[in-house]
Amino acid sequence: PAARAGGRLQFSAIAPVSASVDEFTVPKTYSWEPVIRWGDPLFRDTPDFDINNQTPESQAGQFGYNNDYLDILPLDEKNTRAVLVANNEYTNESIMFPPSMDPATVRAIAKNAHGMSVVELERKAEGFPWKYVRGAKLNRRITMSTPFTLSGPVAGSDLVKTAADSEGRTVLGTLNNCAGGTTPWGTILSGEENFNGYFKVTAPTAAQRRYGLTNSNPGRGWHLDEQRFDASTEEYRNEPNRFGYIVELDPMDPTSTPVKHTAMGRFKHEGANVRVNADGRVVAYMGDDERFDYLYKFVSRDKYIEGNRAHNKTLMANGDLFVARFRGNSESEIDGSGAVPTDGAFDGSGEWIPLTRNGRSAVPGMSTEEVLVHTRLAADAVSPTKMDRPEDVEPNPVTGRIYVACTNNSNRGVGSNTPADEANPRTQNRDGHIIEITETNNDATAATFNWNLLMVCGDPAQGDVTYFSGYPVDQVSPISCPDNVAFDSAGNLWISTDGAPSGIGYNDGLFKVQLEGADRGKVEQFLSVPRDAETCGPVIHDQEGMVFVAVQHPGEDGIWGNNTSLFPYDGTPAPRPSVVQVFRGKNGNGLRK
Ligand code: FEO
Ligand code: CA
Ligand code: CA
Ligand code: CA
Repeated sequence: PAARAGGRLQFSAIAPVSASVDEFTVPKTYSWEPVIRWGDPLFRDTPDFDINNQTPESQAGQFGYNNDYLDILPLDEKNTRAVLVANNEYTNESIMFPPSMDPATVRAIAKNAHGMSVVELERKAEGFPWKYVRGAKLNRRITMSTPFTLSGPVAGSDLVKTAADSEGRTVLGTLNNCAGGTTPWGTILSGEENFNGYFKVTAPTAAQRRYGLTNSNPGRGWHLDEQRFDASTEEYRNEPNRFGYIVELDPMDPTSTPVKHTAMGRFKHEGANVRVNADGRVVAYMGDDERFDYLYKFVSRDKYIEGNRAHNKTLMANGDLFVARFRGNSESEIDGSGAVPTDGAFDGSGEWIPLTRNGRSAVPGMSTEEVLVHTRLAADAVSPTKMDRPEDVEPNPVTGRIYVACTNNSNRGVGSNTPADEANPRTQNRDGHIIEITETNNDATAATFNWNLLMVCGDPAQGDVTYFSGYPVDQVSPISCPDNVAFDSAGNLWISTDGAPSGIGYNDGLFKVQLEGADRGKVEQFLSVPRDAETCGPVIHDQEGMVFVAVQHPGEDGIWGNNTSLFPYDGTPAPRPSVVQVFRGKNGNGLRK
C-alpha cells in the first residue's frame, strides 16, 4: 500500500516558478539533461544542426520541432537500448529562423520539421541517462512527404479522392500531431489536431466551417508551394478531408507504411489511448480539443490476440464510434461563490451514444462515410455534452478508470454560449478540470458510465475557487490547464500542463496526483518547464527513478534576436524544443529510496 500511494519515485514537491523565469526546474536530488533536441541529426549523412544554415534537406533528417507525444520503448532485456517516438506538432517560424531567410525556404524547412521522429537510444544501465544513436536502424522521420494508407470505411470514398489520389487510399503526410498513446502491441497512435490552419479555402461549406476552415489565407503559406493545400481548387477540395484522423505508426519497422484509421472518426484529435477489454476487444478513448466539443470512444470489432502483432495492427480499422453525454445529479455550478455541490460531489452518470453500429452509420440522414469524415456534424445530431476542450484521455492501467483532461474554456457561460453544467462546472473556465469516468461493471465497451470530478484546477492561494476531491486546498501545488496525462507503475496520475502562465502566472509543469485513499486529490509539482513552454509527453519510469517530458514551444512569445527562452541552454541563439530526461543524483541511478 505504501508503494502504491507513493509509487517508487520519491520526491519533495518543487515550488511553482514565476512565468517570467526561463529555467528548467526539478526536485532536489534530481538532475536533468536533453535526450534529443530540435535539429539533432538522426542519420549518418544528415548535416549537423546549424541554425543559421538550415535547409529543407537537413531538416528532413533531423529531429523535428515542437515535440508533443512521447514514449520510450525498451528494445532489450537489460533496458539499455530503447526506441524513442515523438510527435512534432507544429513550428514557430519567428523564433526558428533568422529574419533574413528566404520565405520559400522557411516554408520548406518548417514543413519538414512537422510530423513524427523515431530514434534509438542507448545507455550503460537502468536509472542512467540515455544518449540517442545517430544512424541507428530504427531511426526515421515522418514528414509531409511520407505516404500513409487510409484504413476503414472511408478508404476509397469519393470524400477523400483528389487529383493526385484518384483511388482515395493514400495520403502524403500527417499534420499537427499532438498527443497520442502507445498500444499493447507496441505501435504509436497519434492525433492529427489543428489541421484546418494549413488549408486555403474559399466559400467554406457548413462542414468545413464546423472544422474551422475559413475563408482566409493560411499564414504558413504552404498553398503557395503545393497546390494540394489550396482546397479552393476543384482538384484538391477534398484534401482537408484526408487529415484529422488517428494515425498508427509501427516504430519497430522503419519500412512500414503508417495508417490513418478512419473508423475512429475525423475531428481535432488530441490523441488516443487504448484499453484491452476483458472480452479482448480494444477500446480507444479520445478527445476533440475545441471549446464545446466532445469526448469519444472507439470499440474495435475484432479481438486482441497476444503476440500476434500483424493482427493487432488491424484492430483500429474496424469498429464502432461513440460520443459521450454526461448527466449531473445535483446543483453544482462553481461560479465564484459556491465550490461545493449540494450533494458534496461533482458527479453523475452518462451514456455513450453510437455514431456507428456494426460499422454502419447510426445517424439518420448521414452515410457511414459522412459520419466518419464529418464526425463533428454527426455528433451534433445526437446531442452529446459540450465539453471544456477535452485534451488527453487515458484509462488507468491499474484500475481501468478513465481520466479526461479538460484544459480550459474561457467562453463557457459567456453571452449566448452553453452555460456551466456539473461536468463542466465553471463559468469562464480559465484553469480547467479533470473528469474521472468509471465504465459500468468496469466493462470498457459499456453503453453507460458513472463519473465524478477529480479536481477543478487553479491556485487556491490566489483566491481561485478550486476542488481537489476534498483534499485540503492549502496543501496542493497550484495547477492550471491540464493537458497530457500519464500513470506511474502504481497507478498514480501524472498531469502535464499547457497555459498556466496566462492563468495562475506560473510556468507550466508536471504534477503527480494521488488517486486512492486519504491523500486522493493531493497534487505535487515534480518539474517546471522554461518560459513560454508547454509540458508534453510525460513518461514516468518510476521503477528506475526516471521521468521524461517533451518541452514544447519554449520561448514561443519571443522573436529572433529577442528571445524569451534559450532552452536547453546549449549556446544556440534560439530556443530548441527538446525531449528531457530527469534522473536521480548528479549522474543517474543515485539516491534510491
Ligand atoms: Fe495540441 Fe490540444 O493540444
Ligand atoms: Ca453531484
Ligand atoms: Ca495538447
Ligand atoms: Ca493544449
